[in-house]
Amino acid sequence: MLKRIESLRAEASAAIAAAPDAVALEELRVRHLGRKSELTRLLRGIAELEPAERGPVGAAANAARAALEGELAARRERLEAAEIEGSLAAEAIDVTLPGTPPVAVGHLNLLTRTRREIEDVFVGLGYRVMEGPEVEHDFYNFTALNHPPGHPARQAQDSFYIDPETLPEAVVNERGLPPGPTDVLLRTHTSPMQVRGMEAQRPPLFIVVPGAAYRRDTIDATHLPMFHQVEGLAVAEGISLADLAGTLDHAAKALFGPERRTRLKPDYFPFTEPSVQVDVSCFACDGSGRLAGGERDPLCKGTGWIEILGAGMVDPNVFGFVEDGYDPETTQGFAFGMGIERIAMLKHGIPDLRLFVESDVRFLEQFA
Ligand code: DAH
Repeated sequence: MLKRIESLRAEASAAIAAAPDAVALEELRVRHLGRKSELTRLLRGIAELEPAERGPVGAAANAARAALEGELAARRERLEAAEIEGSLAAEAIDVTLPGTPPVAVGHLNLLTRTRREIEDVFVGLGYRVMEGPEVEHDFYNFTALNHPPGHPARQAQDSFYIDPETLPEAVVNERGLPPGPTDVLLRTHTSPMQVRGMEAQRPPLFIVVPGAAYRRDTIDATHLPMFHQVEGLAVAEGISLADLAGTLDHAAKALFGPERRTRLKPDYFPFTEPSVQVDVSCFACDGSGRLAGGERDPLCKGTGWIEILGAGMVDPNVFGFVEDGYDPETTQGFAFGMGIERIAMLKHGIPDLRLFVESDVRFLEQFA
């Protein structure tokens, strides 16, 4: 009898140690310790044994039962722990992985892209990119650019003047300029950087200046009170109008395609003499003014040419306004200014300037 108990225990013990999961374990419990198990029946039948046998058999059976119960509990604990570990491993979330669906990566705004394209063309020619203040002195914005007070061209650039009382001391007195209600404004163009650039560095000087400019315009398809320009300035010995023509022809081909042609037309700006308007041959009709079907090309209005920028030879008077003096007798240079929005609109067929500020992703996403 004792041997039987021992072998029952060994058998159950081995099965418990090998049980793969909680369900198997429960089955083992019922089979080996349940009401109908051999061990239970054995314990129940103790009273029918010989008196001498009762003590040792009862003790052995109870010991076997207690031992197996302990083994079952231990095995159950092990299995539960393993199960938790398993599901933790299976359900682990790597927070460093992209979400599902992955969040779309943004892209540069078309204006930034266009600005960089323009910069790249001129950096490729040896120009340096420079930036300047958007809150500017009337002096740099107008006076030093040959628009004396009262000059009619000042009115063409309806300006946002700033109350100098609201400005830090350093801004107002930077150049020892007299304070006054019309002394400081939001720059109406990037051209003030011509004189600032010449004050920062002696010739040879080749700079492009991207940045925002502001005018008191009413908002429509071609006007916004804030827009962007790239100013260019080349000052060196012997610079001529031919250099201007060659440089801007190269830029137009780089921006609009190698098959483009350019032409210069007389124009007027107070700070250049002579002044020119630079036109590029129309890319919709290739300069013919007519579309394939024979109808008038609306992009160039049938002229075959599109104006892209203003330029000219720096007026000697402007050199005269540079602090510490640029000798107008020996210094020569050319300047140009183009609108970044305008270049982007022409390149991509954008019909309305307001699209740039409406933050409509359907518009923005077309230029990813
Ligand atoms: N500043 C002019 C404007 O905003 C553009 C311009 C014209 C810039 C001729 C220049 C230039 O440097 O030479 O309309």
